[in-house]
Amino acid sequence: MSENPDLKLDLKLNLVCYRTRNLPNPHSLETYKSLGGYSVLRKILTEKTPPNEIIEELKLSNLRGRGGAGFPTGLKWSFIPRNSPGDKYVVCNSDEGEPGTCKDRDIMRFNPHQLVEGLAIACYVMGAKRAYNYIRGEFWEPFVRVEQAIAEATQEGLIGLNALGSGIDILINNHLGAGAYICGEETALLNSLEGKKGQPRFKPPFPANHGLYGAPTNVNNTETYSSVAVILQHGGKWFADLGTPKSGGTKIFCVTGDVERPGNFELPLGTPFTKLLELAGGVRGGRKIKAVVPGGSSAKILTGEEMLKLTMDYEAIGAAGSMLGSGACIILDETRCMVETLGRFLDFYEEESCGQCTPCREGSGWVARLVRKILKGQGEPGDADKLVDIANKVEGHTICVFGESFAWPTQSYIKKFRPEFEYYIQHKTRMPVSL
Ligand SMILES: Cc1cc2nc3c(=O)[nH]c(=O)nc-3n(C[C@H](O)[C@H](O)[C@H](O)COP(=O)(O)O)c2cc1C
Repeated sequence: MSENPDLKLDLKLNLVCYRTRNLPNPHSLETYKSLGGYSVLRKILTEKTPPNEIIEELKLSNLRGRGGAGFPTGLKWSFIPRNSPGDKYVVCNSDEGEPGTCKDRDIMRFNPHQLVEGLAIACYVMGAKRAYNYIRGEFWEPFVRVEQAIAEATQEGLIGLNALGSGIDILINNHLGAGAYICGEETALLNSLEGKKGQPRFKPPFPANHGLYGAPTNVNNTETYSSVAVILQHGGKWFADLGTPKSGGTKIFCVTGDVERPGNFELPLGTPFTKLLELAGGVRGGRKIKAVVPGGSSAKILTGEEMLKLTMDYEAIGAAGSMLGSGACIILDETRCMVETLGRFLDFYEEESCGQCTPCREGSGWVARLVRKILKGQGEPGDADKLVDIANKVEGHTICVFGESFAWPTQSYIKKFRPEFEYYIQHKTRMPVSL
C-alpha cells in the first residue's frame, strides 16, 4: 500500500473519519470519490490482494478499536478463521450509547461511504458475505444516510452480488436497535441482532469463533471500520506516524460539558489535552477547570490539574489511572458539585443495567439510591465508604464490564473528591464554591 508524504503537511484536524466534513455535500458518493473513495476496494477486489497483506498493513498502522477497549484492530481481524467452511459475519457497532459520546452518528451523517467501504473491505478480509451495521434506535438521520450510501454503492456495483465483477458477494444491511445501552456490548448486540433479549454472553467463546448465529464474527466500532480505507489508501505507516508509538492515527474526541464550543474534534492521538480544550473554546465563562471524565462516563474521573498535563492517547490517560475509552471528554468547571454529578451518572446506570448478573442489578440500584439519599440530606457517616465497598464488590464479578462502568466512577469520584461527599453528608447541602 502506497504512502503519500505530502499528506503529513495537511491539516491536523479531520484527517481520517471526518475528511469529507468541510466539503460540499459531504455525504455524497461524488464527494467521497473525489478523495479517492472506493479506490482501495476496487484495487483489492480487482487484484485479489491476499487478506493477510491487508491485516499486516492494519497491524503496521497501530489502529486500536475506537469503541472503548482499544484492542488492536489488525490482531482482531487475524483471529477470524476465514478459511473455515460456512458463513462468517462482519458486524459494526454503531450503538453509541456511552454518555458523552457523539462521534459515530456524525461519521454516518457526514461520511457514510467511508464506513460502507470499510465494511466491504472487512467482508473481503474475513471471507464474509454479509455485514450488519447495528445503529442506535434513535439515530434516524444517520440511518437514512447509511441506507442511501449502501443503495448508491450497490447501484454502482461496488458492493452487492458479484461486487465489481470479482465473483465476490458483499451484502451490507443496517439494523436499528431499540434504545438499550447494554446492546452496545458486543455480545448483547449479537443477541439483539438475532432477535433475542439484548443481554451479554459469556466469553469465551469469543465472537471471532462463535458470534452471530454461532458463526465467526468480527465486531468493530463505526470509527474503527471508517478508518480502514484511509489507512490502506495512504499506508499503515502514514497512519501510525500521525499518532504516538503505541496509539496510531487520529481519534475523534467528543468534548461536552462546561466548554464554550462543545463538539467533535478529530485530532492525532497524542495531542495535548490543553489543545483540545482550546479547540472547544476553553472552559465556559472563563472559569477554572475542576475535573474531566476523559473517555465516556464509565471512565475514572481525573482532576483538572491532572488533565492539563496529559496528552490524549491510550498510554497517557491509562498511566494517569483512567482510560481513553470512546474519546468522550466531559469537562466539569469549578461550580460543579461532584456528589450531584456522580448521582446523575449513577441514575443512568441503574436504569440501564440489564439485570442478568446479581452484583450489577443490585449494585447499580444500591449505589444510585445511596447517592440520592445523600443528596436529599439524609446521608450518614460512613456512606462514602459504603459506596466504595459496594463498587469494589461489583468490580470483576459480572459477565460484562457494565459492572465496572458504574464501579469505576463511584470509586474514583470518592477517591478524588471525598471531602465533598463528607461535607454533603455532614451539612446536608453541597460544599460552597468560592468564585
Ligand atoms: C455496556 C457496554 C456498552 C458498550 N457500548 C458500545 C458502543 O455503544 N459502541 C461501541 O463501539 N462499543 C461499545 N462497547 C464495546 C464493545 O463491547 C466492543 O468492545 C466494541 O464494539 C469493539 O469494537 P472496537 O474493537 O472497534 O473498539 C460497549 C461495551 C460495554 C460493556
